Amino acid sequence: MTFQQHASLKPFNTFGIPATADRLGRFSNVDELRGLLASPEVKGAPLLILGGGSNILFTQDFHGTVLLNEIPGMVVVRENEDHVWVRAGAGVTWHSFVLHCVANGWGGVENLSMIPGKVGAAPMQNIGAYGVEIKDTFDTLEALRIADGEVISFDKEACAFGYRESFFKRAGKERYVILNVTFRLSKRPVLNTSYGNIQQELERMGIAQPTLRDVSDAVIAIRRSKLPDPAVIGNAGSFFKNPVVPQEVADRIKAEHPDTVSYPAGPGLAKLAAGWLIERAGLKGYSLGTHGVHDRQALVLVNRGGANGHEVYALSEHVLRTVKEKFGVELEREVNIL
Ligand code: FAD
Ligand code: EPU
Repeated sequence: MTFQQHASLKPFNTFGIPATADRLGRFSNVDELRGLLASPEVKGAPLLILGGGSNILFTQDFHGTVLLNEIPGMVVVRENEDHVWVRAGAGVTWHSFVLHCVANGWGGVENLSMIPGKVGAAPMQNIGAYGVEIKDTFDTLEALRIADGEVISFDKEACAFGYRESFFKRAGKERYVILNVTFRLSKRPVLNTSYGNIQQELERMGIAQPTLRDVSDAVIAIRRSKLPDPAVIGNAGSFFKNPVVPQEVADRIKAEHPDTVSYPAGPGLAKLAAGWLIERAGLKGYSLGTHGVHDRQALVLVNRGGANGHEVYALSEHVLRTVKEKFGVELEREVNIL
């Protein structure tokens, strides 16, 4: 097992932050992973498992070992008349998994097209978009417990999925390496086109009877129109979560700003659109030269080139403070800060 010493992490985070890791290794199966974890330089030192690096902000160099997960493979493990169970290696690119499902006519993940990153990170924050979350098709996952190298199976309940939440972001944080995820997909897909402007986009495309592919294409087109491409402008998608607040807080804001964007979020609760709050706090397009708030989606912080992680973090503090002052609402970061 060899490590690259003092390795640049810039190619491995979509913010394009120029941090370094003391050691960088790669694994493409569980035996390689166990071998790396057993090496003397890894034991006792900080450890970070990295997928596509699309939900992470390095605010400093990482003084420990970074392991890049490259476990491949997609296989049908079971099927019946209605469903197919597909297991994907944690190192498979999420979008290629989605395209594989779409090409085979398996429904359930098409609305999650073009989310960056790898399959292994998808359960971490229960990735979601356009009215769908992975918990809707999730069946099980296998993860290696770092403390003793045991492989443990987790069902949906054990994963404790919530909005951008899971067991692996809370009690299980930094204790497991996700190895593979099994999804239950539908052979008789019911398309979900009601969210956002998917229906509008399909109409614009001249499609009346959409297929899985059409929905995937519509989602891709909408995402391209709003979200910056990390290959061009460094970013990690939504930097903050949409805050869930007591209904009376949403009502108070609505009384002052009738165009407030909010959604029902369970009894007595409302989810506010953080992008709207940030825009109305006057920060959409806010620029500090090298970095700033995206001008088409205020929920996205961007590195236009040359910013370090500390500067982007300081900007996130400014956004938090400004929104709190203007609306009395506390935003929570979605991106993992290191
Ligand atoms: P990484 O950034 O590499 O890792 C994220 C966290 O998971 C880290 O803490 C890491 O240590 C941990 N981790 C990664 N792999 C493993 C593993 N195998 N085992 C244990 N821990 C692991 N997210 C959404 O939910 N919806 C969206 O619509 C969305 N849109 C985005 C758009 C853009 C342009 C960008 C840049 C990001 C977007 N994201 C979105 C965020 C991001 O794509 C997801 O969170 C994605 O799942 C991160 O995957 P990754 O492999 O890049 O994870
Ligand atoms: N809005 C504004 N100004 C902005 C941005 C948004 O007013 O600058 C308003 C929009 O007009 C709309 C509402 O806020 O009425 C919601 O906007 P959008 O549909 O763009 O979605 P979002 O709530 O900002 C969430 C997810 C995205 C996901 C999209 C689509 C979170 C934190 N973000 O964004 O996920 O792709 O919905 O479903 O829940 C991510 O997690 O990284 C991510 C990109």
